[in-house]
Amino acid sequence: MNILVLNGPNLNLLGTREPAIYGTTTLADIEAACAAHAARLGLAVTCAQSNHEGALIDHLHAARGAMAGVVLNAGAYTHTSVALRDAITATELPVVELHLSNTHARESFRHVSLIAPVCLGVIQGFGARGYGLALEALHGHLTGAPL
Ligand code: DQA
Repeated sequence: MNILVLNGPNLNLLGTREPAIYGTTTLADIEAACAAHAARLGLAVTCAQSNHEGALIDHLHAARGAMAGVVLNAGAYTHTSVALRDAITATELPVVELHLSNTHARESFRHVSLIAPVCLGVIQGFGARGYGLALEALHGHLTGAPL
């Protein structure tokens, strides 16, 4: 089973972008760790990143019928994008919303997620480790494996 790990705007700068909030792990490090962790779970990952809302939507459309699930860090589009929310619904796939930071402990405009209601669940506040947690959550959801 193949999982799309999709990262949105500004996440290409991970490692150097506000490291006090987002840590020092780069996106390349995260993608490599996702591939290794997925392999341990018997999954495969396809990783993609874009700073553009439409490109993220195109990735979700391509995942429809081709992937088993999605780990999505939509970055700031989480808080603004009805179009991204509609694309998540259109995938008919289990999508795990992910954030490195705990958005509820930050500015009030980050407290609202437009995508959370159409996602399987949300993992946030655990830094890069969250990507592994999200893959485990999807693995459990897809296989029915117990805790
Ligand atoms: C983020 C949280 C968002 O509010 C922010 O706009 C990001 C990163 C996170 O991973 O913590 O770009 O999604």
